[in-house]
Amino acid sequence: MNYSLQTVIDRERIERRVVELGAEVSKRYASIDEALVMVCVLKGAFMFFSDLVRHLSIDPILDFVRLASYGKSTSRRGQVVFSKDMEMDITDRHVLIVEDIVDTGHSVAMLQKVLLARDPASVAVCALVDKYERREKEIEVDFSGFRLEKGFIVGYGLDYAEQFRHLEAICELKIHDA
Ligand code: IMP
Ligand code: MG
Repeated sequence: MNYSLQTVIDRERIERRVVELGAEVSKRYASIDEALVMVCVLKGAFMFFSDLVRHLSIDPILDFVRLASYGKSTSRRGQVVFSKDMEMDITDRHVLIVEDIVDTGHSVAMLQKVLLARDPASVAVCALVDKYERREKEIEVDFSGFRLEKGFIVGYGLDYAEQFRHLEAICELKIHDA
């Protein structure tokens, strides 16, 4: 593959923003009775999630999901297909979905719908990147790290065909045909 990477958000900026987000999330959930359930959407959110939870002043419970992908789609007939579902019971609990990136909004919308059917107290969304140009679903990203109009980004957990997740910065990937 002939490609180039250009840093869009460097490590220092990510670190500063994650500290702020940790404070925002902590403030929002400071007075709830039971622990916040934070749900990491694998694999893309793993790095963001692990940094974010270290900057909280509340004591959350952590869980993980992975959405199966059928080609480019993460849903079938309007249903999310999990390749790994949550393990916690979220009835009457406040839930925060932690995603890498919200693009068209379909996967987060579906995940939110499935979790809401389990009678939680609330379901909110925290996304490292809110990429809004191609949005098709009206999604409220309650906590957003960075807003980006467009572009394909990798690094800090995000991949292209499983590559580049380990990079410490968020980079724009350009593939050059040759
Ligand atoms: P959506 O359903 O269109 O919002 O898609 C969201 C999913 O597509 C994300 O969770 C990512 O896995 C993937 N995705 C969308 N845009 C990008 C990108 O720029 N880089 C890497 N993955 C992306
Ligand atoms: Mg994803």
